[in-house]
Amino acid sequence: MADDLYIRQMLLGDLENFTYILADKASGAACVIDPAADPATIKAVLEKEKFSLKMILLTHGHYDHVVGVDKYDVPVHLSSAEAVFYLPAAKHLTRTLDGEKVRLGPFVIEALHTPGHTPGCQCFLVEGNLFTGDTLFMEAVGRTDFPGGDARQLFNSLQRVKALPDTTVVWPGHNYGSGRSGILGDMKRSNPYLACEDIKEFLSYLG
Ligand SMILES: [Fe+2]
Repeated sequence: MADDLYIRQMLLGDLENFTYILADKASGAACVIDPAADPATIKAVLEKEKFSLKMILLTHGHYDHVVGVDKYDVPVHLSSAEAVFYLPAAKHLTRTLDGEKVRLGPFVIEALHTPGHTPGCQCFLVEGNLFTGDTLFMEAVGRTDFPGGDARQLFNSLQRVKALPDTTVVWPGHNYGSGRSGILGDMKRSNPYLACEDIKEFLSYLG
């Protein structure tokens, strides 16, 4: 069934955001994760592939991940913890809870609450793919010095990510570092923030 899941990674904007289009190849049902910078480019891909957009999933509410969500006539999923802090002006905002599942055709997408970069950051897990937003990059992690950031929470969230199978494919929210996606088992060694098992050491990395 995983072969029927379409994943397209799009590099958009001056901040090198990654927007993702996921789709069920069989039905054409699609969702967009973290629309960034350029709604016209995203729309063009959806039209070219003849996909039908069913929903938008937001890893968090920072402005560079929510571009144009006020224009879409589909549900926009943001974590309930984020909605009280960073609230994008979506027409159809839906608040998700930790562990909540949404369906895309035959696929189940699970929201994992991973606070730290912001209070309501969430990752999305589907068919062994984890979309991490600004929680986890290839060789770094998201900043914790913005309003609502919490380094200790981020450390705990990363321990939760590390508990997923080593084969999990990580798709980050920005093009920071080498490579555009990674295998969690490899990243546990190559990403010092992920390799770190001691909170004091972790905090020292963040400075
Ligand atoms: Fe962010």
